[in-house]
Amino acid sequence: MLKIVIAESELELVPHQIRGHSSLRKLKLKKKPFALLDSNYYHRAMQALPDAYRRGRPDIVHICLLCAMESPLNKKGELEVYIHTRNDEVIYMSPLWKVPKSYHRFVGLMEQLFEKGRIDAGGHELLRIEKKTLLELLNDISSGFDVKVMNFHGEAYESTDNAVVVIGGFSHGDFKTKLPYEQYSIFQQELVAWSVLNHVIYTK
Ligand SMILES: C[S@@+](CC[C@H](N)C(=O)[O-])C[C@H]1O[C@@H](n2cnc3c(N)ncnc32)[C@H](O)[C@@H]1O
Repeated sequence: MLKIVIAESELELVPHQIRGHSSLRKLKLKKKPFALLDSNYYHRAMQALPDAYRRGRPDIVHICLLCAMESPLNKKGELEVYIHTRNDEVIYMSPLWKVPKSYHRFVGLMEQLFEKGRIDAGGHELLRIEKKTLLELLNDISSGFDVKVMNFHGEAYESTDNAVVVIGGFSHGDFKTKLPYEQYSIFQQELVAWSVLNHVIYTK
């Protein structure tokens, strides 16, 4: 079994500090308070936020999930994926869940998840979001598993059975959480998160 955690993902709602910014008027936040932050669209408003250089990247989570959930390993039932966010929430997903191929549909679904806390279909829970730190999540899911943190500065990565692999869900910077686990690299340069995720899945 392989468990992948996309950690400290830059997936969040538009924060209150910038909700009044003129460039966000078209979002009609009064009518629709659960809008996802996306740096492609709200770059100017985001300059006022701490860590603006890395925030607002739901696309990273979307691409990683498309790659992971459509992989043969997932279809064989040998993969679990968890999304941990910058605000210490964890998204749990059913293997039955089909990730929307369209980015806009994915964003709409994430907004519903932030609003309602869970998404059900046909009596089954597909998605659930809970408040939890990265270390709490790793502690919950790692009994009998090695925890491996992916980082381009680490030791050479080799696949092993029963591993929890942690990949940063951000485009710049490093993990903010101090992670007391071995760090592993697949290449001597920084790669995008979904390249690392695909490597980990397809070398399993
Ligand atoms: C785009 S990177 C984030 C940029 C960051 N400066 C970094 O640490 O690489 C996203 C994540 O991919 C993983 N990653 C990137 N390059 C890697 C490499 N060469 N080997 C292993 N993991 C890597 C790390 O988990 C990283 O947090």
